[in-house]
Amino acid sequence: MMSSMTGLIGISGSLRQDSFNTALLRAAKAILPPTAGLEIKTLHGIPLYDADVEARDGIPASVAALKAAISAADGVLLATPEYNNGIPGVFKNGIDWLSRPPSDIQRVFGGKPIALVGASPGGFGTFNAQSAWLPVLRTLRTNPWFGGRLMLSHASIVFGEGGAIKDPAIQEQLSQFLRGFLDFVERSPRPA
Ligand code: FNR
Repeated sequence: MMSSMTGLIGISGSLRQDSFNTALLRAAKAILPPTAGLEIKTLHGIPLYDADVEARDGIPASVAALKAAISAADGVLLATPEYNNGIPGVFKNGIDWLSRPPSDIQRVFGGKPIALVGASPGGFGTFNAQSAWLPVLRTLRTNPWFGGRLMLSHASIVFGEGGAIKDPAIQEQLSQFLRGFLDFVERSPRPA
């Protein structure tokens, strides 16, 4: 028997109040089955990575807290914006801090079921940013799910006032994606 709840953590790579990527995570949270939960996190409060600061002061409390939340989660959803056809600096900076010290990578990311989603007002829905994440997911030895893709394009039309998804076809795409990922998470071995 699986334990009753599947706990996901969703990290938005945007600090923007009205972020489409954070809205996408909220939309995902709203349609999860009752057997699953999604805790939404942003990168507010995470400083710019500076090895001198790390050597002097250690890991910032905001980073340590997010590392603990990832480590405790059954699966991770990364909602990535795309800037200049790549990963926004804020998100990459966050993941770089989360990978410190290297001796913690296995505990935090090793074998962790992880999936990428992304939203953009343009026509390609973070296609390039999602591809740019792949070497990062490999380096951190995560367990990425490639059974579905969600690249939400034309986000300013898709999301209505208040950040809800207006289009039922997109809503269905999101729910199919989540079903697939949850199934994968539930079948993945949990760390001892
Ligand atoms: C963008 N944007 C963008 N969009 C895209 O689809 N491909 C791209 O290469 C870029 N490049 C880019 C560069 C910079 C510096 C900015 C500020 C923006 C637009 C981007 O998708 C848009 O701002 C989204 O709204 C960002 O995501 P959030 O904040 O809504 O989650």
